[in-house]
Amino acid sequence: MSGHGPSIAMRAEAAGPLTVVAEVPGDKSISHRALILGAMAVGETRISGLLEGDDVLDTAKAMAAFGAEVTNHGDGEWSVHGVGVGGFAEPDHVIDCGNSGTGVRLIMGAMATTPITVTFTGDGSLVKRPMGRVTDPLALFGAAAHGRAGGRLPLTIVGAREAVPVRYEVPVPSAQVKSAVLLAGLNAPGETVVIEKEATRDHSERMLAGFGAEIRVEETNEGRVITLKGQPELSPQTIHVPRDPSSAAFPVCAALIVPGSDVLVPGIGLNPTRAGLYETLREMGADLTYENMREEGGEPVADLRARHSPDMHGIVVPAHRAAAMIDEFPILSVVAAFAKGRCLFDGGGELRVKESDRIEAMVTGLRANGVDVADTEDSMTVMGQGGAAGGATAATHLDHRIAMSFLCLGMASDAPVTIDDGQPIATSFPIFEPLMAGLGARVVRLD
Ligand code: S3P
Repeated sequence: MSGHGPSIAMRAEAAGPLTVVAEVPGDKSISHRALILGAMAVGETRISGLLEGDDVLDTAKAMAAFGAEVTNHGDGEWSVHGVGVGGFAEPDHVIDCGNSGTGVRLIMGAMATTPITVTFTGDGSLVKRPMGRVTDPLALFGAAAHGRAGGRLPLTIVGAREAVPVRYEVPVPSAQVKSAVLLAGLNAPGETVVIEKEATRDHSERMLAGFGAEIRVEETNEGRVITLKGQPELSPQTIHVPRDPSSAAFPVCAALIVPGSDVLVPGIGLNPTRAGLYETLREMGADLTYENMREEGGEPVADLRARHSPDMHGIVVPAHRAAAMIDEFPILSVVAAFAKGRCLFDGGGELRVKESDRIEAMVTGLRANGVDVADTEDSMTVMGQGGAAGGATAATHLDHRIAMSFLCLGMASDAPVTIDDGQPIATSFPIFEPLMAGLGARVVRLD
């Protein structure tokens, strides 16, 4: 099991309004995929705006261990000299994906149809997360997995010697599972078909098409049916990674609840399969505007402006929107405390198996900070009272989004909010502290 250094307790307290420009880092999902598909293409892929958070850096190291030449040119510019579909070499050490479920699941898929044997591990959070959801479909291609009880890491995958294509209906709404199957399908002959009942983020489909794979997406009564033709030669790409809407959620939501704030996030990715939070906030009455909408590298992008919104009200967030905002429930539950009335978030069962049990982590921490909140197995209800007392410490359970959510709470609550460990923030948003300080927030590390 890997570790990520000692815990860093942190505290956030109210300061002046948050202004002006928040240049959040590159999209985590797109960054992982750019490195992995770059490593599976023949020739050199150039990537700009790559997220240089621990999760993505672990994927970069993994791609180098599989034989790709991965070079950091500085300032978010990277290149990957790929080895081609089926060209992965067998790494001579264990692949440590740190905190990243996306990294480990996508890489397992990418190597599962190449005849190499690879052992994967991760940190104290990742070794608790279910991997059977990926190793089950990979077994259909002919790959074997040997892991701990319940399919937990550390886990070894023996890649299929003669892979067969697969038709697989994803049983849980998961872009990671869908993507693992598609990446495995790259080195299987014939057509691999993935069916998802609920649409999840589609960066893999978009990027596979961009790299020249033959991929078709059909909306049918069964759901989204994705058909990929195996064994293509992927051509290297030039990829500009948009800013991460899931990271932007923190300065944006903090601006909505801190009096007098006005924050602009330029160049944020607004792929509809990721934009559920922003739709929800607008329904709640948040002052959010999109400016300069455009398309960059196959992804919709806009500049997003958020202003303090004292008159937000509670709403019922429909279950069908959960997948499009699955990573944003923690910060939305903080905003809901500053709205007035009841906010119900439904269809969030997957939150129980993220970097932490996010429903449990938010309910416990919000309650300790004076927020009236309740949960069921797959939902959360916040009784918004237009503010929060604060004053307590929240446990972050090695979960970056829990850490940042409670720090944002502290920026607007009556008393400061402390977190036991802000160290995991580096996995997805390594510049969170200077960026928030630049906007005017007061966040300090405690020794
Ligand atoms: C991701 C998919 C989501 C999300 C994660 C990133 C991805 O997980 O929570 O942070 O990049 O594919 P699911 O597999 O539950 O969709």
